[in-house]
Amino acid sequence: MNTFIKLANTWIKNLGTYEPGRPIEEVARDLGFRNVNEISKLASNENALGPSPKAMNAMCKAVSGMHRYPDGNAYYLKKAIAAKLNIKAEQLLPANGSNEIIELLGHTFLGPGTGIVMADRAFVVYKLVAATFHANVISVPMKDYTHDLPAMLAAIKPETRIVFIANPNNPTSTMVDEKTLDRFMEKVPAHVVVCLDEAYIELLTVSKQPDTLKYIRQDKNVILMRTFSKTYGLAGLRIGYAIAPEACIRLLNQVRQPFNVNAMALAGAEAALKDDKYVERTQKAVKEGIQYFEQEFRRLSLSYVPAVVNFILVDVKNGRNVFEKMMREGIIVRPMDGYGLPCHIRITVGTKQENKKCIKALEKVLSR
Ligand SMILES: Cc1ncc(COP(=O)(O)O)c(C=O)c1O
Repeated sequence: MNTFIKLANTWIKNLGTYEPGRPIEEVARDLGFRNVNEISKLASNENALGPSPKAMNAMCKAVSGMHRYPDGNAYYLKKAIAAKLNIKAEQLLPANGSNEIIELLGHTFLGPGTGIVMADRAFVVYKLVAATFHANVISVPMKDYTHDLPAMLAAIKPETRIVFIANPNNPTSTMVDEKTLDRFMEKVPAHVVVCLDEAYIELLTVSKQPDTLKYIRQDKNVILMRTFSKTYGLAGLRIGYAIAPEACIRLLNQVRQPFNVNAMALAGAEAALKDDKYVERTQKAVKEGIQYFEQEFRRLSLSYVPAVVNFILVDVKNGRNVFEKMMREGIIVRPMDGYGLPCHIRITVGTKQENKKCIKALEKVLSR
């Protein structure tokens, strides 16, 4: 008989695990679909247009070099991001998805006796990572499904090390504006690191994107997290990056694995950055998709949270039940009971066809 449970750190034993969107192949196996093409996954806020074509080309070319280790310093990718954002390469840290950055923040800043502040309906990985490092989690109620920054400020304790703000936030698809962020940043105490998770920022048109790079220029205790998983359609590749003052990036470099980003991801991400046309097509598809869903929810008298990016929360009374039934119709959405929203499901914008199929399935399920 093994004794793993006895040997594990006490605080690890009862940790929850992340419940991801269900993979298409798994649903096909479980529910007996013969063809995976009968199933649409609108569950993980991925880009329905497929990967950036420029990224695909670059990755095909990179295949013949896969016997080599990647450049552990990600020289060319950092140079390309730095040039695009007008920052220094030394202010960047590429990682295996922005999820890895959250973990690196845990290694660097969290431990027993420390804590984080987050919103109660913000991205769940923050609290899972905090729990892994035995840090305390303060969850601050949202206001109108939006981060309540004054309340989050008031919740900061002497032991707080990180405040996480997802902007735009998943799963609510809401955001706080630049002025509200500025007011928060002016007052946040010096013993706290502010992590602004901007996984969806490039889905907003430039005029709607808060200028958060200025906090880096002002050398504040701030870390921005961005990803190639959403706007650039490269979720399967696992690549994101942190932007922070150099002193912070040096610390994060000390705790990361030597080759935390693979060579295919470096090639794909660098090319994707140049694909402005693809980003424009994505923004347009998202805008039209959200307009369509909102109009259909009004027709069906369903209440929803107005969405700013490529997913939307809608109240269907019994979210898990509707999720299960929609899956049988070939549509995978996301139940929200894990976020304390048992009435809601979250739907990601798909292709036009998928969006229509989704509404048809929802209508059928709700009318039963
Ligand atoms: C707000 C937010 N942050 C981070 C992530 C993680 O993204 P990545 O694929 O870069 O790890 C997600 C993914 O759903 C997200 O919604």
